[in-house]
Amino acid sequence: MEAVRVKAPATTANLGSAFDCAGMALELYNEVVVSLNDRDIVIIDGEGKHELSHDSTNLVYRAIAKVADCAGIPLPPLKIHCTNRIPLSKGMGSSAAAIVGGVVAGNALLGVDLSSGDLLDLAAQMEGHPDNVAPALFGGFVISCKDKQHRIVSVRVDAPDDLFAVLAVPEHKVSTREARAVLPDVVAHEDAVFNVSRAALLVAALQQRRYDLLATAMEDRLHQPYRAPLVSGLQRAVSAAIESGAVGAAISGAGPSVIAFCARDVDSDGTRIGEAMVAAFRGQGLQCRVIFTRPTNIGALESVGHLPI
Ligand code: HSE
Repeated sequence: MEAVRVKAPATTANLGSAFDCAGMALELYNEVVVSLNDRDIVIIDGEGKHELSHDSTNLVYRAIAKVADCAGIPLPPLKIHCTNRIPLSKGMGSSAAAIVGGVVAGNALLGVDLSSGDLLDLAAQMEGHPDNVAPALFGGFVISCKDKQHRIVSVRVDAPDDLFAVLAVPEHKVSTREARAVLPDVVAHEDAVFNVSRAALLVAALQQRRYDLLATAMEDRLHQPYRAPLVSGLQRAVSAAIESGAVGAAISGAGPSVIAFCARDVDSDGTRIGEAMVAAFRGQGLQCRVIFTRPTNIGALESVGHLPI
């Protein structure tokens, strides 16, 4: 008998301008160990231990069930042990990590030979959009869209290894549903062009390590202006990060966290940027913690390991 272990990274979607179409994996992993058992057990340690469900409604469980369903095989009883490090409902891809951890573990444990494209389609269906699940699966920086047949088309590029990420994570929670409900149905042509040009610039700037362009490339008019009122201090924290030396900053995913990048010493620059963001939130009466991390090129697919039990 053996167990399958998968490590699924946190992800930051949008990076400001690339709304709903790009995301980057971060070096902060949830780990899931799954084995066959005589009855279903879900154990959760770390983030969400007291909030997440411990039965068949658990997202990791449902993702494994989805793989079995897709392969047309019955789902055997499972022991699922999650060690969660990604904060929940903070715009850091915790649900994408759960889904991706589940589909990758299910594929390996049940001996189902779904391709990486199939796993991406399954995970994106469950999540509702591909921008977090794609980098959680593949690592790196991933640009995704749906083709005319509604299949996800994605291109992964290595994330730069000389960038550091500083995340200010407010105590406030924002559900993606709430953050999407405030978006308008129609946007001005000028705003669409503003974002398209910056999203294209973002891809080139990351590939060519033109960090001098990153602050401009991460500007956005499609979601951040509408989401900022949901959490006091959000827009101020983005500006404070840039003013204190970040090469780029944006709301992470649907928020409420803010991600800022620095291209040099994370100990000095990162600390200053983190403090500036904390002060911006504190000025609005919100406490937040700071997470220092970096982009990672190792996604869940590459992390799969088999353990004896
Ligand atoms: N692109 C999505 C959004 C990411 O901004 O709503 C949600 O994590």
